[in-house]
Amino acid sequence: MFITFEGIDGSGKSTLIEMLAAEMKKQKLKFKKLREPGDTPLGESLRTLLASHKSITPVAELALFVAARAQLVQDVIKPSLDKGEHIICDRYTDSTSAYQGYGRGLDKALIRHMNNAATQGIVPDLTCLLDLPVGQAAKRRSANLDRMEREANAFHERVRKGYIALAKAEPKRWLILDSRKKPEENLEVLLKRLKLF
Ligand code: TMP
Repeated sequence: MFITFEGIDGSGKSTLIEMLAAEMKKQKLKFKKLREPGDTPLGESLRTLLASHKSITPVAELALFVAARAQLVQDVIKPSLDKGEHIICDRYTDSTSAYQGYGRGLDKALIRHMNNAATQGIVPDLTCLLDLPVGQAAKRRSANLDRMEREANAFHERVRKGYIALAKAEPKRWLILDSRKKPEENLEVLLKRLKLF
């Protein structure tokens, strides 16, 4: 199984990911927990660059996220799935569609082509959207905001709407969870969907 988690910054992905990982460990399932951008030396360097540079054009930003993904797929995701390990990934292609497509307004077909090249056609079996109103998500973010988190509320609103549109277009792949609910409740729904409960 290849499971990805998506949502605006502060939507509570990390909590649910930790809870799912703990449950999978308990069930003695072999899995890797990854995050994007990151989890390769190149990806971690790009993560630092992307969070810290003051000025990055939207197209440059797109190219850097996709570069990190291409490396992660080639070096980690593909070999692990081939070995029969499960993958839990904090963000994947849909982050690019939501942030660079809906948020920045870049061409969606271009993003699709670049994502396809980076992923070698590897699509998640399940994508879990943690949905939360922008105002509530902003309150949950830490005081140390990175470049993306400092974007105006209107940007995060576009990203949130983008996620909902993406999820509604592919209901078989997506599970939408309401982050205002307790994480334990959401975990139960997720485990049922994964048939781990
Ligand atoms: P994180 O802090 O949730 O791991 O995500 C890093 C930031 O990068 C977050 O603000 C979302 C953003 N992002 C994109 O804009 N496009 C992408 O393709 C990815 C993977 C992340």
